[in-house]
Order: sequence, then structure tokens, then C-alpha cells
Amino acid sequence: MSRARLLEAGDRAIAEAAEVLRAGELVAFPTETVYGLGADATSDAAVAALYAAKRRPAHNPLIVHIAGRAALEPLARLDARAERLAERFWPGPLTFVLPRRPTAPVSPLATAGLSTVAVRVPAHPVALALLEAAGQPIVAPSANRSGRVSPTSAEDVALELGDAIALILDAGPCRVGVESTIVDLSEPDRPVLLRPGGVPRAAIEEVLGPLAEAGDGEARPRAPGRLASHYAPSLPVRLDALEVEPDEALLAFGPRVPSGAFATFNLSPAGDTTEAARRLYALLRAADRSGARQIAVMPIPGDGLGEAIRDRLRRAAAPRPSPEMRSNGAD
Ligand code: TXA
Ligand code: MG
Repeated sequence: MSRARLLEAGDRAIAEAAEVLRAGELVAFPTETVYGLGADATSDAAVAALYAAKRRPAHNPLIVHIAGRAALEPLARLDARAERLAERFWPGPLTFVLPRRPTAPVSPLATAGLSTVAVRVPAHPVALALLEAAGQPIVAPSANRSGRVSPTSAEDVALELGDAIALILDAGPCRVGVESTIVDLSEPDRPVLLRPGGVPRAAIEEVLGPLAEAGDGEARPRAPGRLASHYAPSLPVRLDALEVEPDEALLAFGPRVPSGAFATFNLSPAGDTTEAARRLYALLRAADRSGARQIAVMPIPGDGLGEAIRDRLRRAAAPRPSPEMRSNGAD
């Protein structure tokens, strides 16, 4: 298959990308969190092509991206909690799961047949311009093969999906570096944190009060795509390393770093979880390519974006499913 074209995301390129989306084809584009792989959410064929390009299992629903609060009206019902959160955090790295309107112009494939829909307004000028120009809600999972490390640069998208898509909009590295926080507001009783992400839990709890955990006393899994192994590099990953072996690549954090690694990649020498989140996926990829036998990761504190970083690293270190089980795979 031909290779993707990488276009610097100026006005002309954005207009062209919007045309490609309207024609039912796929475009990778930057958001503040990670690069997304976009498809017209209203088109069954476009959404099916997106699942195929990512090799994503069909039971794992997608996030619908919109240009602003107004575009949400036809898709889902907002209650007072969602209104408050949208007011405070949109555009931004926060996704809501809401009851889907029966008339929502979104392919049922995108929501995997659920009665809910996940929505967000990304805080990135290129993403917003593209969504405006496309004039349709756009589904956009992270632009990686299902289960692998998410891309935070256009070059990393090309490495992941360059042979499966036609166009990549390039606007440099992503500012936040981990995916959006997902809060399930589909039930009136208690909001549930489905995925820690770019908005720290504490900021959301300031608005909503305590968030329940996905899985707490629940009969059904609410986040179908949140499987154990995910964000996985090729090499094995060892967590909470206080010492390092000579054949290990070290993903370090903070000023005090054990010596003797095959190669060392420091997420944040200053010990700042915001900086570490921004650099996480690029350094995980660099460690993966370093020629080491395994990746060792120092302990990461849970404050700020640390909860999201720890979540991703735990999944990166989880036992990998066998190829036959991959049909159960992650996003
Ligand atoms: O930051 C982000 O959110 C990025 C950028 C590109 O916007 N997108 C992203 O999409 O991370 P993806 O597909 O990699 O992750 C979407 C997650 C999955 O875990 C999926 O299961 C969950 O959202 N999800 C989507 N719709 C859902 C729904 N209706 N109910 C529960 N979980 C849902
Ligand atoms: Mg993903």
C-alpha cells in the first residue's frame, strides 16, 4: 500500500483534510492529548474503515469529537453536571459518556451499539479548525494500531499507520501527551472515572465531588476498551524499578537516577508529572528502539497527571494477549 502524505497543518492542508473526511476517508490529525485518526462519525463505511485501519475490535466504541458545545445538542442529553464540567474544561482533555439521543447522527458502529456516546471538544487549534471545516462530528481514536503506544507526533503516526492511511496533518508534538480523562455521566447517581487522563482527577472532583471507580460494585464493564494490556511497546516493561540491570533501558523520573542502565530516558529530571506526561509516549518509543532487552520504569508519583501516567504504564507492563486473543484487544 502507498505511504501516507504528511502535510504541515496550514489553512490549505486543513481544508484538504476536511474534504478527505467528507469523502468518507481517514485523516490523522493533532489534538492537545495525542494524534487522533479521524473519520466521519455519521458514515457507517468511514467508521468501518477506521476500525479496519487500527485493527480495533468492533466492541470498543469511539470518542466523537466536536468543535464546540453547540454541536453536542443533536448527539446527547446533558444534565447539570455535564454543563458544569463543559463550562469549566471544554475545549480540553475531558471526555463525557452521556446517554445517546436515539436520533443522534452517529453511526451505531462508532458507539458499538451502546445507548451511550462519548464526546469531547479538543483544545487544539488545528483539530478545532478541521472539525469546523468538516462540518460533521468526527470519531477519533488515538492514531496507533490497537493495543500499541499512542502517537504524540506526526512522525510517530506515520510509523504506526503510514501504510494504512492517506493523510497525516502535522502540527508538531502534542502539549498534554496522554489521552483525555473519561467520565461516565450516563447514570444520574454517581459519576464514574473510566480513564484517568489529561485533566487530573482532583480538578474534576472540585466540580463534581468524589468520582467512583470503573468496576466498583458494577455488574457490567462500563469501559469496554479498557483492557489490561494496552499502550504496549515491543519490549517487556518492568515497573517501580529502584535499580537497573545493564541490559535494561531505564525510563527515569526525577533528579535521582540509578546508574548502570543500557540507556536512560528521563521523563522529567525536575520531577514534574505534567512534563512527564508530555514526554511519556515518545520516550517509551525511544526506549523500545534502544536495543535493550527490557524497559525498566522508576516509580512515578500519583499527583497531577501521575495517575494517568501510572495507568498507562501499568497497561504497558501487563501480560500481552496471544495473537488469537487480540480480537479482544484494546484501543
Ligand atoms: O485524548 C483522547 O481522548 C484521544 C484523542 C485522539 O482525542 N482519543 C482516544 O480515543 O484516546 P481511544 O479510542 O484511543 O480511546 C477511547 C476510549 C476507549 O477506552 C473506549 O472504550 C472508551 O473511550 N469509550 C468510547 N465510547 C464509550 C462509551 N460509550 N462508553 C464507555 N467507554 C467508551
Ligand atoms: Mg487509544
